[in-house]
Amino acid sequence: MRIHGAKNSVLKLMAACTLAEGTFVLHNVPDITDVDVMIRLLASMGMRVTRPGPDQLEIVNPGGLTPEAPYDLVEAMRASIVVMGPLLAVYGEARVAMPGGDDFGPRPIDMHLRGLELLGARFESAHGYIRAHAELLQGARVLLEFPSVGATENVMMAAVLAKGDTVIENAAREPEIADLAAFLNRMGANILGAGTSTVAISGVERLVPVEHSVVPDRIEAATYVAAVGIAGGEVTLVGARPDHMDMLCQKVGEMGMRTSADPDGLWVMANRRLHSVDLATLPYPGLATDYKPFLISLLALADGVGIVTENIFSGRFRYIDELVRMGADIRTEGHHAVVRGCERLSGAPVRAHDIRAGAALVIAGLRADGETEVRDPHHIDRGYEDFVGNLAAIGADVERLT
Ligand code: UD1
Repeated sequence: MRIHGAKNSVLKLMAACTLAEGTFVLHNVPDITDVDVMIRLLASMGMRVTRPGPDQLEIVNPGGLTPEAPYDLVEAMRASIVVMGPLLAVYGEARVAMPGGDDFGPRPIDMHLRGLELLGARFESAHGYIRAHAELLQGARVLLEFPSVGATENVMMAAVLAKGDTVIENAAREPEIADLAAFLNRMGANILGAGTSTVAISGVERLVPVEHSVVPDRIEAATYVAAVGIAGGEVTLVGARPDHMDMLCQKVGEMGMRTSADPDGLWVMANRRLHSVDLATLPYPGLATDYKPFLISLLALADGVGIVTENIFSGRFRYIDELVRMGADIRTEGHHAVVRGCERLSGAPVRAHDIRAGAALVIAGLRADGETEVRDPHHIDRGYEDFVGNLAAIGADVERLT
């Protein structure tokens, strides 16, 4: 099965196209609705985006953009706020709708704002919008309270055109951040250390448009790893980067799956019922919070009891109620969940509340008696290209109703 480009990278690469005038080409772009939202956002600012071929985007930045992210788009996709840093860097101003809470609970952007403030930005908020100004962005030392992915990206994209040197400490280390830095460096930026906790950026005068291929989606790949763990069998995830998924492979290995780096990607196999383990989500290279719903689906069917601790997003347990409707034995207490595995689940109508939770319910349905109907599949479309087609291609009995 072929793994597509990473949602969490391509959205930021698209935002970075605001940094230079001219024509960019992105390859390995997934056909997902979050990319459509980012296309609408870039278009609303004055850019032209087309899909010249499968998996490709051509993005034309004619300059003179309207530095604004309107409410309907930020509401549709919180990641829209990463345009703030680059717009400030180019235009000295940005107007971005304030993101509300979401299904994971409150998701503040205080670290984004504090980081940009250290570079010289000033903020006012009124009528649901944040207005940012900067006469001149000046490099600074930015120590993040927590290795926030979005804050690291926003500050990095502002700092590339700031005057002088910026050092981000306690930076997030996700592979998608290294991908963004590689893209920016190809554009002419001077970034060292992306993918580690200390990122050093020397500001440059100007950047140029480039062509780039998006890093493979480790979260999409993890979804199919879990599908194999639940249904049994053997799959090669073509294009997956096992080196980006070390902790996941280690965990599913402890549960009894076999994984191996393959010249084509990642090979995974499950030939018996898995056993339970405890797990805790942590910033990269720890176990991603985005993997957690799939791992809970695995634990719900494993032999034994597993304790899951969520350390990134406090409210990311809501989908468990849906899994319980399918017969899973799970109790939650604060940011912990105790999962007692059962032999089989029981197919039921359930609702997807977000991208990953929706995918986790579908794969849980692979080992549920009878039919599982997952409502609101549009959440899954935000992050998965042809999820149903991919699962059906490896033998799942799954179809799209709406
Ligand atoms: C990104 C990913 C998301 C992933 C998450 C953590 C995208 C589009 N989304 O989200 O899929 O689950 O990383 O790996 O790339 N926080 C603050 N203040 C801030 C910023 C963050 O308190 O200014 C908190 C958040 O509420 C959360 C934690 O920090 O508890 C981590 O958030 P962050 O790493 O910023 O996640 P996102 O970039 O929003």
